[in-house]
Amino acid sequence: MAQQQNVDLRHARTGIELRPGLDGVPATQSAICDIDGERGLLTYRGYPMEDLAANSSFLETAYLLIWGELPTCDELARFEHAVQMHRRVSFRVRDMMKCFPASGHPMDALQSSAASLGLFYSRRAIDDPQYIYDVVVRLIAKIPTMVAAFQLIRKGQDPIQPRDDLAYSANFLYMLTEREPDPLAARIFDRCLMLHAEHSLNASTFSARVTASTLTDPYAVVASAVGTLAGPLHGGANEDVLAMLEEVGTPEKAAGYLDEAIAAKRKIMGFGHREYKVKDPRAVILQSQVEEMFARFGHDQLFDVARAIEAAAESRLGPKGIYPNVDFYSGLVYRKLGIPRDLFTPVFAIARVAGWLAHWREQLGANRIFRPSQIYSGSPPRTWMPPEERVSAPAA
Ligand code: CMC
Repeated sequence: MAQQQNVDLRHARTGIELRPGLDGVPATQSAICDIDGERGLLTYRGYPMEDLAANSSFLETAYLLIWGELPTCDELARFEHAVQMHRRVSFRVRDMMKCFPASGHPMDALQSSAASLGLFYSRRAIDDPQYIYDVVVRLIAKIPTMVAAFQLIRKGQDPIQPRDDLAYSANFLYMLTEREPDPLAARIFDRCLMLHAEHSLNASTFSARVTASTLTDPYAVVASAVGTLAGPLHGGANEDVLAMLEEVGTPEKAAGYLDEAIAAKRKIMGFGHREYKVKDPRAVILQSQVEEMFARFGHDQLFDVARAIEAAAESRLGPKGIYPNVDFYSGLVYRKLGIPRDLFTPVFAIARVAGWLAHWREQLGANRIFRPSQIYSGSPPRTWMPPEERVSAPAA
């Protein structure tokens, strides 16, 4: 297809300039999360991330994100109980998952299972606060169960049922590994979920809001966000970080690896962020979690490789404002917890569903369907020709 040359990058009617990737373009108003990328500050509903990570729990934080205030004791107890009561998934969902190919990526399995909930819970009443509450509870409760179920199913085993005596994070680790986790491991995992629960208008959250803006069902909203999170430039980066650490192998090789990758214009996975120009505050907290885990459960030499890469990257990428992001250290924690590498992004989704649901709710409160414009760069109008008169165009 012939491309027009010298296309004006301003929109003809509005005069607004095209910004690839919508870099710096506000696309919504939101009261959920704030990022100060220059100073490395992150707040959920005004509360600093560090404060929440030290004192809160994932379910309390999810409640805060979705309803705007920290829950009272009663509200939290009711929410935790409701989530606990809805952890089980229908045998039909489990049977459907048994038909998924075991070789498929767990994010694809999660996207399909999340979307399937719309078939099982087809009532739609987005103006009813009780309906919103029930949807939130159902999704937060069932997503971990579906992630753990696929893990066992693909190994040829039957999924194990949630245990009512275990709290949210401990129960997930139990369903996944079939062992009751050490309380410290469960606590650190819960903290990881808090750190990943929300991050303003990132790609998957934008996807969730666009889908929500059509007033479709909330399961479709979450399924579209899961699909977006799966990509290696977004949630999928945490898998690639571990592959990179293994490839580098020893701390001595870190600087050489970076030089080669930068010369070849390859991205260093787990580095860089559209918003942060300093080290991601979540990476700072995660690094301390890694240290706590290793002090208790034994050292992982890939951590030394990671530290060496971070040190070598300081002079090479730091001047461009490229520092470790949340994905750089999260994989090391998950690895120590016995979570398989291709479940790192589904685990990210378990956490981020809280943020997606908060944005779903906020979007419904002041909805206008997303419908941006484009700068057309294709052919001018032309006339259809019969196949025998056409000549092959060179590949674009
Ligand atoms: N390694 C090396 N160079 C980088 C990196 C990196 N990780 N990230 C950005 N750059 C360079 C890039 O090459 C470009 O340089 P130049 O101007 O010389 O061409 C410049 O920085 C701007 O890069 P960009 O890709 O236009 O930046 P962006 O804001 O569009 O992308 C990003 C942000 C996160 C997609 C990108 O930094 C990246 O691809 N990082 C690696 C993947 C990753 O770790 N993703 C997880 C992000 S945090 C968790 C999440 O949101 O899911």
